[in-house]
Amino acid sequence: MPTDKDRQPVNLDLFVGRDPLEPERQVLGPGAVLLREYAAERDGTLLAALDQVLQAVPLRRMSTPGGRPMSVATASCGTLGWVTDRRGYRYQGSDPASGRPWPPMPEAFAQLAADAAAEAGYPSFRPDSCLINRYAPGARMGLHQDRDERDMSHPIVSVSLGVPAVFLFGGLRRNERPQRVRLLHGDVVIWGGASRLRFHGVAPLKAACHPRLGRYRINLTLRRAG
Ligand code: SIN
Ligand code: FE2
Repeated sequence: MPTDKDRQPVNLDLFVGRDPLEPERQVLGPGAVLLREYAAERDGTLLAALDQVLQAVPLRRMSTPGGRPMSVATASCGTLGWVTDRRGYRYQGSDPASGRPWPPMPEAFAQLAADAAAEAGYPSFRPDSCLINRYAPGARMGLHQDRDERDMSHPIVSVSLGVPAVFLFGGLRRNERPQRVRLLHGDVVIWGGASRLRFHGVAPLKAACHPRLGRYRINLTLRRAG
């Protein structure tokens, strides 16, 4: 029998394990859902595909239009890749660092995104872009909207791998206080429809160690950009 002591709340930001009381599927808003551990059983395939992509295209810290280096290291695959520099945020078909096309999107990424989107109520989603963001301890993502894509009827599919993070899921206006959602290895968040333009970000990553990814968190953001 659990004692009262066992039931004391844990500091969720530091606790690396899963809370067995958390539901497998959690609605975060209209058209927005967290599927806990959805990607976990394919993680070997995903990580092998990720290694291949990262052999072809290096992670780098890009600068915001204001000239500040982002704290996350970034790369893309797919027909379009997301980039930022002095000229602004945009998608383009080639890597600005090499001038070459981005590596193709691994089928394992595209299939996972399609499956998760269908599970969340978006049955015809096929991504053409995957942004890979690597967070080291302390790296964060400020609140922003994803609005560089051409057609907002497609959802965003976001896959968390590695050490836990706190995802900040805000409202349609920047000043709405965001929900804090703990994301662990294998968790997938999908947001679209009435939630497609909600502000979101990631709190500074706490130091932790993941058996497969060491001190890092990797986020795959799969989108239909073009
Ligand atoms: C993003 O919004 O680009 C990344 C979100 C995340 O890392 O979970
Ligand atoms: Fe985003």
